Amino acid sequence: MSYHWIKIFENEDAMHNNLMLGKPQSIVIKGNKICVARTNEGVYAVADRCPHNGASLSHGQCTEKGEIVCPMHRYPFDLKTGRTTSGLTMNVLTYPIKFEENGVFVGIKAKWWEL
Ligand code: FES
Repeated sequence: MSYHWIKIFENEDAMHNNLMLGKPQSIVIKGNKICVARTNEGVYAVADRCPHNGASLSHGQCTEKGEIVCPMHRYPFDLKTGRTTSGLTMNVLTYPIKFEENGVFVGIKAKWWEL
């Protein structure tokens, strides 16, 4: 799998200062609206569109179980895997995060014509 790695924070300190624990944020990268969330377990990125009815997951809340809860009908999703933990809708797309010396990056899958 080939990814475009896009820098979202200059370093971990910037990430900690700008991405509050349990307070997800929305970012747009290459036309993808992405919800980035930080929990005690780590930092995760999922599509900022609930697969149930399209609400913005970045307006939801994180739980201590590492889930993000949709603000509209309150269906929870595992931030690591994107799996629905309610079983009431489809899973949400996840994006990989990587930490490098020069920043924190989110990976966007390259399209076949970009390979
Ligand atoms: S829109 Fe997210 S749970 Fe219904």
